[in-house]
Amino acid sequence: MLCQRAGLHQNGESMADSKKDICRIELGESSYELPVVVGSEGERGIDISSLRSTTGHIALDRGYMNTGSCVSSISYIDGEQGILRYRGIAIEDLAEKSTFVETAYLVIYGELPTASQLKEFSAMFTKYEMLHEGLKHHFEGFPPNAHPMAILSSMINAMGCYEADIADSDQHFDEVLVRIMSKVRTIAAFSYKKSIGEPFIYPYPEFSYCANLLHMMFSVPYKEFFPSKEAISALNKFFILHADHEQNCSTSTVRMVASSKANLFASIAAGVCSLWGPLHGGANMAVIEMLDQLYKDKTKTKDFVAQIKDSTNKTKLMGFGHRVYKNHDPRAKIIKKSCDELLSKLKINDPTLEIAKELEEIALQDEYFISRKLYPNVDFYSGIILRALGIPANMFTVMFAIGRIPGWIAQWREENADPKGKICRPRQIYNGQTSRPYKKLADR
Ligand code: ACO
Repeated sequence: MLCQRAGLHQNGESMADSKKDICRIELGESSYELPVVVGSEGERGIDISSLRSTTGHIALDRGYMNTGSCVSSISYIDGEQGILRYRGIAIEDLAEKSTFVETAYLVIYGELPTASQLKEFSAMFTKYEMLHEGLKHHFEGFPPNAHPMAILSSMINAMGCYEADIADSDQHFDEVLVRIMSKVRTIAAFSYKKSIGEPFIYPYPEFSYCANLLHMMFSVPYKEFFPSKEAISALNKFFILHADHEQNCSTSTVRMVASSKANLFASIAAGVCSLWGPLHGGANMAVIEMLDQLYKDKTKTKDFVAQIKDSTNKTKLMGFGHRVYKNHDPRAKIIKKSCDELLSKLKINDPTLEIAKELEEIALQDEYFISRKLYPNVDFYSGIILRALGIPANMFTVMFAIGRIPGWIAQWREENADPKGKICRPRQIYNGQTSRPYKKLADR
């Protein structure tokens, strides 16, 4: 396969038609040309959409290790340099200076809001923060130990049933997205209250997004909980860092569901399920369980690292490694600093923080991790922050989901607005039985 480089920097969409960037492939005696697409940051891709019709071959790429599924302008990652930007703005700047609601606006609409836009956007969150009373009955159907991710996913779809008149309408997109973002926070708090057998606490219109979530989780009817400004700031930062992350497993799920023209509720509910697994968003819960176990068993960190390196063992260092980041995950750096600051301000001594730091130090000097380019990812320290905020481990992935919702909304909209968009329908290489006759039961 030969790829010619024109050296011109052009917009991804127009490049597909350009003759200056082409990839030539040879199959047997025949040669074919495929267009090369170039993104605004110089990222290059070979457009193989005509491969099967022209060559009779499909591209096989397990786990989509090397497949671009769309052209997107929402977030940009440079995995080699450890860069993440939302709509061109560095994650470091947003984490330092923005709030989650402002970042959500940026991710969804593409620009930072003006003062009046932000005021209006925030007011809509207050307007739509209550759940329909009918929805409360759905919580009764879950057993007390139901996983909050199962509840979240089911309740988002149930919520869609109560919003059926606007759920499928493009005209109501602005309202639908705020309804989802705002109510998801109420659902998360209610599912926590349900799991500990306490009565639901309603949102407080005066509170900010993050303060309200903590209030609904930790207030009780006889005692109001007022979160500290440190707690609110740490939670804002946590959500900002999770707001979008290009075509990861859950976001691709959202886009795939959206490509069938399913509505925003259904697509986001599917994203929640995809996020749940321990190789993805569920890793934040798996990390804290791993650290707690090491603390409980008094396992030496170097012995644990040796166990991970043992190829006969399936143990992984949870919170390490990433499909895209091969230098460092910029979110992990910010979260580690935020974790240190929060614990010191709240005067919390969590021994698992020391264990995590020791593991990181050993791993970063170890050939096994260096050669495989394995670094701490966003989940390595985030659980320690969430625990310091009083959030139990089984709610960690729910917190991740709340943070990721603006990204899913933006990606759903982009998928729907793409004039070249197609229903997502991958191919396969079949390796099962070839044609054979059906045998009657008596003959088997
Ligand atoms: N601990 C030990 N070894 C690891 C780890 C880890 N955390 N991650 C990868 N490796 C090893 C693999 O065993 C493999 O080794 P090999 O070449 O000897 O077979 C090599 O590194 C490459 O790993 P892959 O699994 O092929 O990499 P992939 O890109 O498919 O997976 C993933 C990325 C899923 C994140 C992986 O690194 C992992 O399982 N990490 C732990 C779970 C985790 O923290 N997930 C959260 C990711 S961030 C997010 O989703 C929000």
